[in-house]
Amino acid sequence: MSAPALDFLAHAAARVESALGRALPDTDRSPPTLHAAMRYGVLGGGKRLRPALVYAAAAAVGVDSSALDTPAAAVEIIHAYSLIHDDLPAMDDDALRRGQPTCHIAFGEAEAILAGDALQALAFELLAGEHGWPARAQLAMLRLLARACGSHGMAGGQAIDLAAVGQTLTLEELERMHRYKTGELIRASVLLGALASGCEESTAEYAALNRYGEELGFAFQIHDDVLDVLGDTAVIGKPQGSDHARGKPTYPALIGVPESQRLARLHRDHAIAALAGFDARADLLRALASYVVERES
Ligand code: IPE
Ligand code: IPE
Ligand code: MG
Ligand code: MG
Ligand code: MG
Repeated sequence: MSAPALDFLAHAAARVESALGRALPDTDRSPPTLHAAMRYGVLGGGKRLRPALVYAAAAAVGVDSSALDTPAAAVEIIHAYSLIHDDLPAMDDDALRRGQPTCHIAFGEAEAILAGDALQALAFELLAGEHGWPARAQLAMLRLLARACGSHGMAGGQAIDLAAVGQTLTLEELERMHRYKTGELIRASVLLGALASGCEESTAEYAALNRYGEELGFAFQIHDDVLDVLGDTAVIGKPQGSDHARGKPTYPALIGVPESQRLARLHRDHAIAALAGFDARADLLRALASYVVERES
């Protein structure tokens, strides 16, 4: 595994952790149980890949600023909300997440649903604050994140996923599901970093980062499916074999593990190729692309 990617992830994780701690409501404020469930779902775990992509995209564009902590925290809060709901009995019904009992096991289903709802709202509240971005860029960021969460993004992909349990999707349908449920938020993470750094939507740089994010997000979810087969519960921090046990539509189920790995690497290569016009400042994005298909958790 590439040392620069691991070092950068550790740096990004520490940086976003303190932003998250500040952004989340304290548990001494009412309603305390809801705030505890929100903090439980977000803090102290996870690879923090999406915040790392915000920071790495900004580095590729040549900017570093403390204002990046806001989109980094917002996208991780959306991700944490999606995990809380994904684990619910009505969805994947999983009891382990990031090595801990899932939010609904720790707090009950109703609190877990509400924690997800409140986290989603909090992410948009954060992004809509005063951060010194031009209004046009800030609106583009809000629109981008909203689309990535909605019916053409995470929620839409989750709907396809749930409707397909026990059925066999075509490769085309499975690809759409993966691009929606996971790819869109990863693409948004990259583009939030770019927009927050002054990169305009009409530029070639933005188009290249968009392509990188799309390809990386797709590769990420294929590898997530592979880890459900090859991973170790103690390392992945969630129940290995859960997809298989629940008849989930996945790449290994449809085309087998070796072909899934080949496909994930192919899309990693496409992601890296999209960065051809960037200099060494995009090396972090390149390293993260390799990390995504090599990671063990
Ligand atoms: C897991 O995402 C859910 C998917 C979108 C596949 P991650 O693998 O990024 O989970 P954490 O944040 O590291 O726990
Ligand atoms: C979840 O996909 C994607 C989300 C939008 C949360 P999975 O159901 O495969 O994620 P894990 O494997 O439980 O983390
Ligand atoms: Mg799921
Ligand atoms: Mg799941
Ligand atoms: Mg999975």
